Amino acid sequence: MSRLAGKRFAPVQCQNGSMLHDEADSIEVDAELETIGVDALAVDALDAEGYAAAIPGLAALIVDAVAGGASVNFLAGVSVDDAAAWWSARLPDVRDGTTTAFVARNPATGAIVGSTLLIRSRNENSPHRAEIGKVLVHRSARRRGLGRALMAAAEDRAISDGRWLLILDTQAGSDADAFYRALGWRELGTMPNHAYRSDGVLAPTTYFWKDLRPA
Ligand SMILES: CC(C)(COP(=O)(O)OP(=O)(O)OC[C@H]1O[C@@H](n2cnc3c(N)ncnc32)[C@H](O)[C@@H]1OP(=O)(O)O)[C@@H](O)C(=O)NCCC(=O)NCCS
Repeated sequence: MSRLAGKRFAPVQCQNGSMLHDEADSIEVDAELETIGVDALAVDALDAEGYAAAIPGLAALIVDAVAGGASVNFLAGVSVDDAAAWWSARLPDVRDGTTTAFVARNPATGAIVGSTLLIRSRNENSPHRAEIGKVLVHRSARRRGLGRALMAAAEDRAISDGRWLLILDTQAGSDADAFYRALGWRELGTMPNHAYRSDGVLAPTTYFWKDLRPA
């Protein structure tokens, strides 16, 4: 295994970078979340305006996931600004309907505690296909069915849009790998050395697919 010492992915141009930093820093997922049932944590699809407003919370989710060791395109120590820039760069895709973002919020505080992206293929030959991305559940809210609820919302939207073939990838052997298998995703294969883990070690990535059509 090789190491990528200190290397960071190139940041994408961020809209209103410093403001996002301040807002994201102020978002905390309070301990009361532990006592709130998953049914109360509603999953919503965001329009472009809602997405833009959610970017600080979404950035905080990435920072939390990476702090927990998740491999989600970033390396350890990712800044709130860099995470916000990643989300900001996708705003045009949300605006034109290519991408739909789903979020779950703590009803008591409004804090975003989960996310999922449905990214529709733009290609003429694949109007039936979409990709799932940024499935993130805050560490304080895991193993309570929230990830499952976010995926169900994305799959429901995909079906209603005629996007019955879904694809995604994740670090082989990770928590997310087990999660997708539990949700019925089928393994396509694993590519060695595909991406650096958040700690800078090269790791394999497993590709999954799911056919949403009734059997
Ligand atoms: C993967 C992730 C989204 C799962 O979210 P979650 O809300 O904890 O998942 P759920 O509670 O809905 O779990 C549904 C099922 O998936 C499986 N599962 C979830 N987390 C698991 C884990 N850590 N280990 C093994 N199985 C797991 C279980 O079968 C679980 O059902 P159960 O709790 O009744 O046993 C969350 O762990 C996460 O955000 N991880 C870091 C970010 C990440 O890696 N995202 C994927 C990027 S591709």
